[in-house]
Amino acid sequence: VNGTITIPVVVHVIYNAPAENVSAAQVQSQIDVLNDDFRRLNGDASSTPAIFQGVASDVEIEFCLAATDPNGNPTDGITRTFTSTTSFPTNDNMKFSATGGTDAWPASAYLNIWVCNISGNILGYAQFPGGPAATDGVVIDYQYFGTIGTATPPFDLGRTGTHEVGHYLNLRHVWGDGGCGVDDLVADTPLAGAPNYTGAPCSFPGPNTCDEGAGDQPDMFQNYMDYSDDGCMNLFTEGQKARMRALFEPGGPRASLLN
Ligand code: ARG
Ligand code: ZN
Ligand code: CA
Repeated sequence: VNGTITIPVVVHVIYNAPAENVSAAQVQSQIDVLNDDFRRLNGDASSTPAIFQGVASDVEIEFCLAATDPNGNPTDGITRTFTSTTSFPTNDNMKFSATGGTDAWPASAYLNIWVCNISGNILGYAQFPGGPAATDGVVIDYQYFGTIGTATPPFDLGRTGTHEVGHYLNLRHVWGDGGCGVDDLVADTPLAGAPNYTGAPCSFPGPNTCDEGAGDQPDMFQNYMDYSDDGCMNLFTEGQKARMRALFEPGGPRASLLN
């Protein structure tokens, strides 16, 4: 498909403690980051090292809070649900009203984002394309969502949302979740053998965990699909763009979002 794709988003805020009931402004701050990062309008695009600027990509995907709910009624694109659950393990209970959460809106028409208190030190998690509709979407911990309110350094720049939506759009971690023999199925990200947890000052070059031979490059810890701190991340690549946009071709697993 050509041109800009716009994905309607519903954010399901699931809260027990009042602080978990994040504001509409905080929700919008996350949408704004998604739009900046997927259009390469991020203010830190100039921090991408020169050797990677040539593959840095405007993915041409945008996000808007849904204006119409599944019944055809006007909505601000945010649902709010009080729960007696004080924290959710990564078992998808937040995705069903029967287990203390909120049911997904039809995944064929909306990107569902659940915001809640996730147990442990998990920033967020996502479902890849092709999975069950009832659990399709991404989950983000309320402390790592958007850029204001409860957003907590060093994960307070909304990049957990960018990373999880990357998974929702079929991107793997840049290290392929394995050693140097395992690729992320994207040609223009250098091989990496392990995640990088790079923090400020994001010094370049950082680790070079794999030798690609001729044209060897250091790890692209600046990629949104690594594990660096939010302030060290600043790009998707052209190869990642192609992988994401392929989902929207006729018959593809995300094509129905275009209707
Ligand atoms: N660990 C999570 C995942 O694999 C999210 C990592 C997000 N990183 C960040 N800097 N916000 O999906
Ligand atoms: Zn991930
Ligand atoms: Ca390398």
